Amino acid sequence: MSDEKPDEKKVKLWDFPVRLFHWSLVAAIVTAWWTNRELMIDIHAIAGYTVLALVLFRIIWGFVGSSNARFASFIKGPKKVIGYALRIPRGSMADLTYAGHNPAGGWMVIVLLVLVAVQAVSGLFASEDTFLFFDGPLVAHVSSDLASTMNWIHHTNINLIYAMVGLHVFAALFYLVVKRENLIGAMITGARTVPAELAARFAQIRFASPIAGIAILAVCAVIVWAMVTVARG
Ligand code: HEM
Ligand code: HEM
Repeated sequence: MSDEKPDEKKVKLWDFPVRLFHWSLVAAIVTAWWTNRELMIDIHAIAGYTVLALVLFRIIWGFVGSSNARFASFIKGPKKVIGYALRIPRGSMADLTYAGHNPAGGWMVIVLLVLVAVQAVSGLFASEDTFLFFDGPLVAHVSSDLASTMNWIHHTNINLIYAMVGLHVFAALFYLVVKRENLIGAMITGARTVPAELAARFAQIRFASPIAGIAILAVCAVIVWAMVTVARG
């Protein structure tokens, strides 16, 4: 049975590659966070390489993916972002509903992508010789000054990730509980239920081929694997 009311319509919002990317990223970050310790550092590194491949994929998909996954469609200027943020508390559905990331959420996406990329890249240069006895694959190729700066970044940037992921999850829960908008369900199933009069906005999304998305992701994984293998020598 459908839970759609007569004045509501179920619309497609997120393509499969975006959803695969999101939940794989969450799994990889949680795995990396959990395994930064003795005996598990090899898993930590693999989780980190996975993050790298996922971010690389998302950057490419941000140019060639479905219309609402493209950076150009959701990166907005300060006027729009502030205007939107001010409307959140009392905004109507028509006002707050975008067929993709809203102007405030769009910047959150960029911030999260940059932070997780910085974490994964700095990890390639990180090392620990007391308990873990592990060198990132690029440590041997750079000066010890650069390696120790990268180590510092790796330790410091994780705190920014905690803060921004916290804010990100809080925002998703705020929409769910206060605005009664299930954005989380949409990131899982790809579909969202909206008032029928807003459905036309979603009909305009041009979806890219999911097969192309998976192929690009596979190529990104091979690139990261090759880079790590060559760097390790
Ligand atoms: C390590 C933790 C997480 C990271 C790094 C992260 C990162 C991201 C990124 C990069 C996007 C943009 C997706 C895209 O366009 O490709 C996104 C969207 C989204 N995430 Fe997360 N996420 C995390 C955890 C979560 C969790 C736990 C939830 C659910 C409670 C969640 C809910 C969402 C939702 C609902 C969207 C879509 C927002 C919208 O409709 O504009 N995320 N996330
Ligand atoms: C986005 C992916 C990653 C996340 C979320 C992450 C997270 C972390 C965290 C939370 C720590 C502990 C920091 C602390 O104790 O202050 C850590 C340490 C470490 N990470 Fe990562 N990491 C990632 C990727 C990588 C990669 C790709 C490598 C190398 C291949 C790596 C190598 C290391 C090493 C060697 C340490 C130990 C450094 C030390 O204790 O001095 N990490 N990582």
